[in-house]
Amino acid sequence: MPILDDRNFEFFSHSPDQTRRLGIHLGGYLRPGDVIALEGNLGSGKTTLVQGIAQGWGVLDPVSSPTYVIVNEYRRADAQRLFHIDAYRLEGTFDAEILDFDRMLAQGPVVIEWAERIREVLPGELLRIRLDYTGIGHRAMMLNPEGKHFVALVENLRRKLYGDF
Ligand SMILES: Nc1ncnc2c1ncn2[C@@H]1O[C@H](COP(=O)(O)OP(=O)(O)OP(=O)(O)O)[C@@H](O)[C@H]1O
Ligand SMILES: [Mg+2]
Repeated sequence: MPILDDRNFEFFSHSPDQTRRLGIHLGGYLRPGDVIALEGNLGSGKTTLVQGIAQGWGVLDPVSSPTYVIVNEYRRADAQRLFHIDAYRLEGTFDAEILDFDRMLAQGPVVIEWAERIREVLPGELLRIRLDYTGIGHRAMMLNPEGKHFVALVENLRRKLYGDF
């Protein structure tokens, strides 16, 4: 196996709850400026994962799909915010530029569904998560970190879930 693949982490989920639990662990690591780019088809589990991420991050608000608003902004007890973007209806760079990423990144982590649609405007360093349907109740998630910070984050997550092996 090429050494570069070691930074990737594949997780096989057997239920929506298990997907949420992965999200809860991940959410606990997130800091302002962190970008989580979710890619995967309709129903692959992106919003389910975000529900867990938000819970682990410490959200006070209920989490739903930002279907009509493009961006949902969630609160926590401190001043931090969690931004949840659904890029499904965005058309490339033009639409994405109005999002004002810099303002969001200064205030909290940003999680994006359908991130592949606005790839051009995303920062070079991020955590990409590709979700795939693998059967009824089953989903495969490939975590692909870009940049040292996210490589370390995935390594910590892997250790937390499976220990040092
Ligand atoms: N292991 C699993 N992980 C996540 N969701 C699962 C799993 N097994 C079944 N599901 C079901 O699949 C659906 C996933 O829906 P969800 O809204 O999370 O997908 P999505 O990727 O956000 O879709 P969309 O592209 O429409 O936003 C839910 O109904 C969920 O209960
Ligand atoms: Mg969704």
